[in-house]
Amino acid sequence: MSDVSFDQVIRSRRTTRAYREEPVPEATLSELVELATLAPTAMGLQPWRFSIITNRDVLTRVNEGVKQACLAMLAQVPEMERFRSAFENPEYDIFYGAPALVVIQGPCGNQIGLLDCLLAAENLILAAHARGLGSCFMGFLLMARESQEIRRALAVEDGYEIVAPITVGASDAIPQTPPEREPAHIAWVR
Ligand SMILES: Cc1cc2nc3c(=O)[nH]c(=O)nc-3n(C[C@H](O)[C@H](O)[C@H](O)COP(=O)(O)O)c2cc1C
Repeated sequence: MSDVSFDQVIRSRRTTRAYREEPVPEATLSELVELATLAPTAMGLQPWRFSIITNRDVLTRVNEGVKQACLAMLAQVPEMERFRSAFENPEYDIFYGAPALVVIQGPCGNQIGLLDCLLAAENLILAAHARGLGSCFMGFLLMARESQEIRRALAVEDGYEIVAPITVGASDAIPQTPPEREPAHIAWVR
């Protein structure tokens, strides 16, 4: 099996922060989730749950709730201060207008489950990119993951927590620049 095209998928992926309105077909979203579940999973447990939100009103409501939660947390998380003006801006949409949000959920407090969910997340992100779809890992949303209102809005199951919320949609601005990365620090033990 040649790995050239897969390398290219990895090399050309960039976080997408501008989306076109057009919906992602549900069949495509289901397929991305199915590919996510093919990630390695410790002891074969497959601890993940998924919810897929395409309802614009729900995304608008969650966006508002997350921005308020982030503002309330700025005092405890000083490194987030640089985002204050964004959180205060009524125009700022943490989802960047994405037509879909996939929420990968793992069992509460389960460290192994967390790792499985993150591996599934990367599968989903790369599979989306391979289909010409943009994505963004929604770290801001994690700041509000304890909120019952947000959990309900995102259909998070009882006993599960939000691990990896990922926007998916057709990109409105494809970044041409390659990812900026430092050379890897490697300790060779030969
Ligand atoms: C755990 C995690 C949380 C992130 N949270 C956000 C976020 O809330 N909003 C955002 O715009 N980008 C977010 N990103 C995207 C990163 O900013 C992005 O991956 C980084 O700038 C590198 O750019 P690239 O993905 O295009 O290579 C997050 C990425 C990760 C891995």
